Amino acid sequence: MAKILLATEKPFAPVAVEGIKDVAAKAGYEVVLLEKYTEKQQLLDAVSDVDALIVRSDKIDAEVFDAAAQLKIVVRAGAGYDNIDLTAATAHNVVVMNTPGQNANAVAELVLGLLVFTVRNFYNGKAGTELKGKKIGILAYGNVGRHVAQIAKGFGMDVYAYDAFCPASVIEADGTKAVESQDVLFENCDIVSLHIPATPETKQSINYALVNKMKKGGILINTARKEVINEPELLKLMEERSDLKYITDILPDAAADFEKFEGRYFSTPKKMGAQTAEANINAGIAAANQIVGFLEDGCTKFQVNK
Ligand code: 3PG
Repeated sequence: MAKILLATEKPFAPVAVEGIKDVAAKAGYEVVLLEKYTEKQQLLDAVSDVDALIVRSDKIDAEVFDAAAQLKIVVRAGAGYDNIDLTAATAHNVVVMNTPGQNANAVAELVLGLLVFTVRNFYNGKAGTELKGKKIGILAYGNVGRHVAQIAKGFGMDVYAYDAFCPASVIEADGTKAVESQDVLFENCDIVSLHIPATPETKQSINYALVNKMKKGGILINTARKEVINEPELLKLMEERSDLKYITDILPDAAADFEKFEGRYFSTPKKMGAQTAEANINAGIAAANQIVGFLEDGCTKFQVNK
């Protein structure tokens, strides 16, 4: 009987765990749970006899692969797989997949929720502003970016996007205005929402020069990864420009330094973007189905370490 380990430092909603167990049971597989673990050793012990692993942002490095002699597949139940050492996975002959799009709506809803919270002065009772008519710039038009565009249009916002890999024609076909560079996006928009993955090219790419292109009163919102922000440069800019706001779903390394920008900075204490029952069900069940498809039929759709 194949064994699937669901290792989630930040647990799924119980209903999603039940859904994963149902999919596994139908295939005759066993599911074991490791939730809210605090020590890496707990993960190393738990992977020792499993065939498949489902994780979220849990760090899966070479040491984990070394400890998992039977492991054949890891599915990151979510979009970004920067938490998984793909080179080590390939070296251990382990297939890695993600579940693209499954939690995109949840993240996009959080973006608009955080924006309402921000333009209403964090609900402090003072008169704020509205999102209607404001220009929002979406940096990277993937699954989350597209959902943000759709919801922002519902708010009556003027929606722009830049994506280095998605053709302008695809963006425009969606009724979103494509711009020619990220510089132009920052120059033109009142709000910029980040949806780029953390890659060697994007790490620290949101820097002083880029954010300083924003107009007076600009809002930068990050529901992507903290690694894409050049934190020392953003801190310096926020010291110099008292009009800028930074809103994030990923606690910065220098959180204490950002805290001093009262009324201009907000971070969720723990990444909340994908933390809905629906997103957990979608991503978790997709992950379980992908494992069954791979172990039964060798299906490698969504493999990311090809
Ligand atoms: C993702 O990459 O799918 C999101 O950042 C969600 O991450 P999480 O599963 O750790 O909440």
